[in-house]
Amino acid sequence: MAKKNIDWSNLSFAYQKTDKRFVSNYKDGKWDEGVLTEDSTITISECAGVLQYAQTVFEGLKAYTTADGHIVAFRPDLNGQRLENSARRLEIPVYPKDKFVDAVVKTIKANADYVPPYGTGATLYVRPFIFGSSAVIGVKPADEYQFRVFTTPVGPYFKGGAKPITIRVCDYDRAAPHGTGHIKAGLNYAMSLYQIVDAHNQGYDENMYLDAATRTYVEETGGANFLFVTKDGTVVTPKSGSILPSITRRSLVYVAEHYLGLKVEQRPVPFEEVKDFAECGLCGTAAVISPVGKIVDHGKEICFPSGMDEMGPVTKKLYDTLTGIQMGNIEAPEGWIKVIK
Ligand code: PLP
Ligand code: COI
Repeated sequence: MAKKNIDWSNLSFAYQKTDKRFVSNYKDGKWDEGVLTEDSTITISECAGVLQYAQTVFEGLKAYTTADGHIVAFRPDLNGQRLENSARRLEIPVYPKDKFVDAVVKTIKANADYVPPYGTGATLYVRPFIFGSSAVIGVKPADEYQFRVFTTPVGPYFKGGAKPITIRVCDYDRAAPHGTGHIKAGLNYAMSLYQIVDAHNQGYDENMYLDAATRTYVEETGGANFLFVTKDGTVVTPKSGSILPSITRRSLVYVAEHYLGLKVEQRPVPFEEVKDFAECGLCGTAAVISPVGKIVDHGKEICFPSGMDEMGPVTKKLYDTLTGIQMGNIEAPEGWIKVIK
């Protein structure tokens, strides 16, 4: 089999159908074995739980080609664990994390020709998800579910790749205290669509959400956690019960402490403190680390000393080390890299 004829270096972050996807159905209280199929379409009841009451949770991870030609995935076990946690919060039957990893491996293997070659800057994005497939009209969980995993080759999430972006402080909330901000549920993203369209219309790349209760602490953006660097080189990342526990952020904290010898603080970050930081970045599977050059708060600009041309020096070190680990150029901590083939 040969790699597909794709212009790998010019891919954007967009869906493109690949050959195979994994599908498993939950019926009569149990998940079936699941199969790989070529059918990228789904036929369900007009009254399915997912369509009426947004009963769906998902994950996102990436597969890479390493320098020595292997295909690997980055910490899929953590995505499996998070999907379990997300499912419990929405009364969705848990798809066990070991079976999750098997399904992810099978799907990547079946689409190996779509894994971008080493050095192109592109990756294979993997999207596992579960949704309520049977009909419900009263507000209650569905009886039947489908778990699927599809893949799509992608380039950078923000146009321009590693170029610093501009974001704005958003007047709407993303998640409530004791709500669903800490899980990866479609509903969190549905309620961010108005804000992201408006942000783009106003010329911003993303929204910075503040805590819904006091609007004084930094939460996250619509699709990534924040990472700041102080003027004396300490990495600071917001701690909150209503943000998604980013696997990229958790990995970067480890990289900062154990590979780069940096001091890391994971704590609530008052928005008031943001103007004093030297660097700012967004971290996530899709975002990797996207540097933020400017934050606009109702006309007031916070311009980071790292500027609008390139990543700040600490962000760059974090970026190089993390991507070096993911692409197999730097030795990974035990268990971080799942070799697919
Ligand atoms: N926060 C939100 C809201 C996200 O959608 C994502 C993306 O998955 C992240 C953070 C980053 O999480 P991860 O690093 O696990 O991809
Ligand atoms: C990811 O990073 O995997 C996400 O799910 C974020 C999404 C905005 C694409």
